[in-house]
Amino acid sequence: MKPKPSPSPLGKTLLPAAAIQKRVGELARAITAHYRGKPLVVVALLNGSLFFLVDLLRRMPPETGVECWRVSSYEGTASQGILRGLDQCRGDFKGRHVLLLDDILDTGLTLHAVAAHLRKLGAEKVEICVLLNKRRKRTVNVKPKWTGFGIGDEFVVGYGLDYNGHYRGLKSIRLFKASGASAPATA
Ligand code: XMP
Repeated sequence: MKPKPSPSPLGKTLLPAAAIQKRVGELARAITAHYRGKPLVVVALLNGSLFFLVDLLRRMPPETGVECWRVSSYEGTASQGILRGLDQCRGDFKGRHVLLLDDILDTGLTLHAVAAHLRKLGAEKVEICVLLNKRRKRTVNVKPKWTGFGIGDEFVVGYGLDYNGHYRGLKSIRLFKASGASAPATA
């Protein structure tokens, strides 16, 4: 007897590609209007905000500055509660307006720590923009100025969001059930 194929861990499409693109356009317009006349640097957290950053930046004024920082707290579908990589994140932010960009706000630990780090590096004002905001109790209080979409407390992949490094390239955002996952774990 042939072994049964394992069920796909990919669940329903929560946000189709067209809806994401439309919302990113709206965010770019709102952010551009807010920072008119103020030089802005976007600090994007990789790898999750990769596609969000590119799509947003292409719709913003060409003089917008950009820095990419690599930090991580997730393994599989759970936050490890420890932020790795922040000690490598440096730059001259003295007196600058910074827009901190991330794919998703979950416990709040990542954005809280990175915003504090930017202030320590001298940033005059730090605002936060996230594509997704999970409706859940936060570990720490974080208030993004701009949010793409509010979603339930479920694990999602696609448009930069991953499960152990996989599924980032999906154009839409989909629910994900780790119990059916066959993707190998990556470091
Ligand atoms: P915290 O808990 O620090 O989490 O707010 C932020 C980071 O956790 C990752 N994360 C997810 N990644 N699907 C993902 O692919 C999810 O549903 C999810 N929830 C949190 C993500 O890297 C984010 O930057």
